[in-house]
Amino acid sequence: MAGGSADQDPLSEPFALPRITVQTCEDPVLLGRDEFGDALGHAFADAAHVALQGQNGAGKSQFAYGLLAQLAAADDVRIAGSDITGLLLGRPYTGTAHRRWQATGTADLEEHAALLERLVSVMDERLAALPDRVDKIQPSPAVPLFVVVVEEFPGLLRAAGAMPKPGRGERSVLDRIRAANLRLLSEGRKVGFRVITLAQRAETEAMGGGYARDQYALRLSFRVPGDSLEMLHGPAVRELAQRHATAKPGVAVLSAPGRNLVRVRVPYLGAYAEYCDRIATTARKEP
Ligand SMILES: Nc1ncnc2c1ncn2[C@@H]1O[C@H](COP(=O)(O)OP(=O)(O)OP(=O)(O)O)[C@@H](O)[C@H]1O
Ligand SMILES: [Mg+2]
Repeated sequence: MAGGSADQDPLSEPFALPRITVQTCEDPVLLGRDEFGDALGHAFADAAHVALQGQNGAGKSQFAYGLLAQLAAADDVRIAGSDITGLLLGRPYTGTAHRRWQATGTADLEEHAALLERLVSVMDERLAALPDRVDKIQPSPAVPLFVVVVEEFPGLLRAAGAMPKPGRGERSVLDRIRAANLRLLSEGRKVGFRVITLAQRAETEAMGGGYARDQYALRLSFRVPGDSLEMLHGPAVRELAQRHATAKPGVAVLSAPGRNLVRVRVPYLGAYAEYCDRIATTARKEP
């Protein structure tokens, strides 16, 4: 890991996300640049769920804007998920093929449970339809890859947990959300589901339990306290902890199987209106 004082940090300068879009989930999206200026890519066709943590204002949502702006034009991708903030998903996707797979806001939390369950049923259909001697699907325009974004998952769980108790024999919205999320995480990879979860702190409970959290192969931490960093990346990250506790927005620690732990600067899309424009101009329209 390169050292140096903060003002020599090769990651101190922001860089703008170029106007790039992928045509298929096989193509890599740009995740960021490492300390040597090398670009890091990730193809969503690779069977990895993605966990993003970071304190308030650390750059999680901006990073997600950049990822989704790169993915939204791909024929074989649907951008699905739950967003209680209604900024990342929802309105920017009006009129696109993605919108019907998204639940937004906090007015109707049952809608979020129902949406996740709808995704689980697509997953179940796909699992049941796997031909003999085949253990995974190849995403295509007819059988698209679902990128299931869950913006502020701990907040969704908290909001669902604050709902009135369900009637006798009824399942709570909280249970339904947890169960559907866990099924997508544990069984979805083979059949074209990739979950991207955002959280301020990826604590075990807040992520739906230890087993759920273990399912994320690609992990990025924006500015977080040392204990949160170690929670997601293991003890090897300890030497970075102090420095990363004051990281600038858009600077993250990234780990993934088969990669060395790296510090990265993620691309910056700019104003929110730019995200809306890119989705409006590139996303696949509603058929
Ligand atoms: N990659 C980046 N490069 C430069 N500045 C950035 C970058 N990402 C974020 N910022 C700045 O930080 C601000 C906060 O970023 P963002 O909204 O993504 O944080 P967040 O982690 O989602 O926070 P919250 O938990 O409050 O939702 C942005 O409005 C922007 O000014
Ligand atoms: Mg945010």
